[in-house]
Amino acid sequence: MKIFKTRDYYDMSRKAANIISAQIILKPDCVLGLATGSSPLGTYKQLVEWYKKEDLDFSKVSTVNLDEYRGLSPQNEQSYYYFMHKNLFSQVNIRENATFVPDGMNNDIEKACKDHEDIINRLGGIDLQLLGLGENGHIGFNEPADEFIKDTHCVQLSRSTIEANSRFFEDIKDVPTQAITMGIRTIMRADKILIIVNGSKKAKIVKEAFWGPVTPKVPASILQIHKDVTLVADEAALSQAPI
Ligand code: GLP
Repeated sequence: MKIFKTRDYYDMSRKAANIISAQIILKPDCVLGLATGSSPLGTYKQLVEWYKKEDLDFSKVSTVNLDEYRGLSPQNEQSYYYFMHKNLFSQVNIRENATFVPDGMNNDIEKACKDHEDIINRLGGIDLQLLGLGENGHIGFNEPADEFIKDTHCVQLSRSTIEANSRFFEDIKDVPTQAITMGIRTIMRADKILIIVNGSKKAKIVKEAFWGPVTPKVPASILQIHKDVTLVADEAALSQAPI
């Protein structure tokens, strides 16, 4: 695992954007796996700036998103579909039909999960997967559990995730209780993984995930056995790490 310790969130975002931008330059028709949440916002902002300066071209890029809440329509401002369009897709020259967010509105949830896996396979797999880290160690919405769930699936969100994500909603009662997420195998199949983490709130879980035992109780710990992982984290997030 490569580790980059950055001064702060801004520095983390620029470093992550640099790595993504290198991927796009080296392979213009690459498949990016994308994440939502507050962690990648600065990264997307930086990518948009570079696109506007004509330093980046998304015209051949395809993207697949990690996860989506169940039951939120694309027009709902809290849906990950909305987030991605607002913060990245509408601001760069990516083709609309080359961006894929799991379909949280499909009543046939099994089909929605299978469709997402099929899309990733059809695209030939993910070249670079961007991840954030949940405070409880989740990646995507793979919550702490007794076993790793392999493929894209529907998940019951844990109390701690609902609480952590309620900051984006008016009322905690509005936070969906279920989501679709890529599974652990889906994520681990990506050629490269880039995980970004910031803030002292995540210091404990960073230490457990990357220096503790590999266990489904801390889903991100599985990344320790991936062949090409880059962790970009700020000083606060790495403050308990033995480095
Ligand atoms: C959310 C998302 C994850 C994200 C994580 C961290 O629940 N499903 O994909 O990485 O939690 O979020 P944040 O970056 O806002 O701390």
